[in-house]
Formats: sequence, structure tokens, C-alpha cells
Amino acid sequence: MVVVDSVFAPIENDLLALNRNLKNMIGARHPVLYAAAEHLFTAGGKRLRPAIVLLCAKASSENSEIFSSQRRLAEITEIIHTASLVHDDVLDECSTRRGIQTVHNVFSTKIAILAGDFLFAQSSWYLANLENLQVVKVISKVITDFAEGEVRQGFVRFDLQYSIEEYIAKSFYKTGSLIAAGCQGAAMLSTSDAQISNELYMYGRYMGLAFQIVDDILDIVGSTAYLGKPAGSDLLQGNLTAPVLFSLPETFQLAELIEKEFSDTDNLSYALNLLNKGSGIQQAKDLAAEYLQAAIECLNNLKDSSNKELLKKLTLTVLERIN
Ligand code: IPE
Ligand code: IPE
Ligand code: MG
Ligand code: MG
Repeated sequence: MVVVDSVFAPIENDLLALNRNLKNMIGARHPVLYAAAEHLFTAGGKRLRPAIVLLCAKASSENSEIFSSQRRLAEITEIIHTASLVHDDVLDECSTRRGIQTVHNVFSTKIAILAGDFLFAQSSWYLANLENLQVVKVISKVITDFAEGEVRQGFVRFDLQYSIEEYIAKSFYKTGSLIAAGCQGAAMLSTSDAQISNELYMYGRYMGLAFQIVDDILDIVGSTAYLGKPAGSDLLQGNLTAPVLFSLPETFQLAELIEKEFSDTDNLSYALNLLNKGSGIQQAKDLAAEYLQAAIECLNNLKDSSNKELLKKLTLTVLERIN
């Protein structure tokens, strides 16, 4: 992960401060709610969203400074993201996350739902306290988008008619929206130039879509140790992702296995084998690469700076996860 380290190095201290703040920001009075909400923060995570927000803040400001409102926005995006993961793991019935047991697994599904809601609510409170109505509008939409994305995904499990277009739309709601809004919000807090904040929104949107495609490839090619959860989890749940959708026209056997909903556990490894042999994974990588190129092009009007170069370099880190 050479590129990712070099992009994160210039904001390393900012991310350390963010990690310290995150825990202090969760002020649950009940110990169980506190423990559940704090559970995933302790386990870490890549902090990709706050890193993008901080870099967008630096790249759009006059002297590459980061305002305290932008630091707060970075923290808010990580809280929203973590809340979405707590709920996502309930829906996906996933038992491990960030290398540790999921909240619903350690506590209960009821507590996980409440803890996720609690984190969303906390993020809204901190968001309101930024006292910037434009940013409140942009970021609060993300929380509705999650629900939209999860519901869309929930209704098409094992659906062989599912299209790549629907998958991209769902991925925008689940993943692209938060990254896009975080980038736009960061820009809005440093400049009144609407073109720049709109273009950074698009940068985040393309980054988010590429990131989700790569995450979905990893679910097929990654090891349990690397993923922090078993490989093939998406397929087992009937979530047909880009590599699967691209592979379906190549082999009728894959469709047959999906139709049987993996009632026989050997069928999952058989399906993963088919996927690894076909060209679907490569086609999905190519699509992610196209989105990353589009993300870079969204930076054309941003003034040249070392931070702009870091935003460009950040696109490389997305594919670096699978190469
Ligand atoms: C996981 O996001 C969920 C997706 C959008 C694919 P990350 O891979 O960024 O999760 P953490 O924060 O590093 O745990
Ligand atoms: C992304 O979906 C999670 C959210 C944006 C809520 P996934 O279901 O692909 O994420 P992982 O694989 O569980 O991390
Ligand atoms: Mg999931
Ligand atoms: Mg996934």
C-alpha cells in the first residue's frame, strides 16, 4: 500500500487528532449504548472519508489550511459512515467488521439498530452546530440516501434481471453519496465558488462508485484475513455486484447456482471459482478505472497545488487495494 501511505502522510497528524476526537464526540449516557456506538471506532477502519474531506478542504482553501469546521465535517462523515456500517451489518447478517465482531453480534440486533440511529442522530447534532445551512442540506441528504440504497439492495436479492445500471444507482446511494457530499461540504466551507464545490462533489461521487466496485471485487478475490469477514459474503446474501453481473452472460452455470440461492454450501465456492476464471472481475476493474479517470477530470478547474496532486494520487489508492 505504497501510494496510500504517501497520500495519508501529509494529513497523518490531522487523522490522529480525528481519532482522538471521535471517541469524545459520542456522548451516550447509557453505558450499553456508549459501548455499542464506540465499538467500531476502537477497531479503526481506514478513515478514507475523513481523509478525502481533509484533502478537499486543503485543496479548496487559500493557504492549504483546514478550518475547524472542516475538521468537524471530517469527523461527522466518519460517524455517519460508521453508523451506516452498523446497520449494514445487521442487514447483511455479517458477523465481523474491521477485524472484530459486529455490534449486533456482540450486543443484539435491537441494540445495533439503536446504536446506529444514535450515531446518525449525533452526527446530525454536530452537523447542525456547524451553523451552515448549505452544508446541513448537502450532508443530511446522505442519511436518507443510505436507506434508499439499502432498501433498493434488499429488494433485488438473487434477482437475475438486476442490471449494472441499477447496481450503479444503488452504489451511489449507499457509498457515493456520502463521499460526494463530504467533498462538496468541505469545499463549501472554504470557498463560495459553486463550480469548485460542484466539481468536488462529482470527484467524490466517482471515487465512491469506484470504491464500491473495488470493495465488491475484494469480496470475491480477497481472503478472510484481509477482508475481516468471509469471502463471498455478498454472493451468499444474493447481492449481485459488478463482477457477478459482468460474468453472468459468460456462463449459464453461474445463473443456475444463484437461482439455487447457495442452499448447498459447496455451490458458493463453485461460483467463486467460476467468477475467478471469467472476465467479469477484469471488466469490473475496468469500470472502476474509468470512474477514477472521470474523478481526476473533475479536478481540472481546481487551482494547481500539492493538495490537488494528492487528490489525484488518492484515486490510485482505490485500485491499489486489489492489485
Ligand atoms: C466499507 O467501507 C463499506 C463500503 C462502502 C464498501 P470502508 O472499506 O471504507 O470501511 P472502513 O471504514 O475502512 O472500515
Ligand atoms: C457498503 O456496502 C456499506 C455501506 C455503504 C453502508 P457493503 O455491504 O458492500 O459493505 P461491506 O462489504 O459490508 O463493507
Ligand atoms: Mg455489507
Ligand atoms: Mg462489500
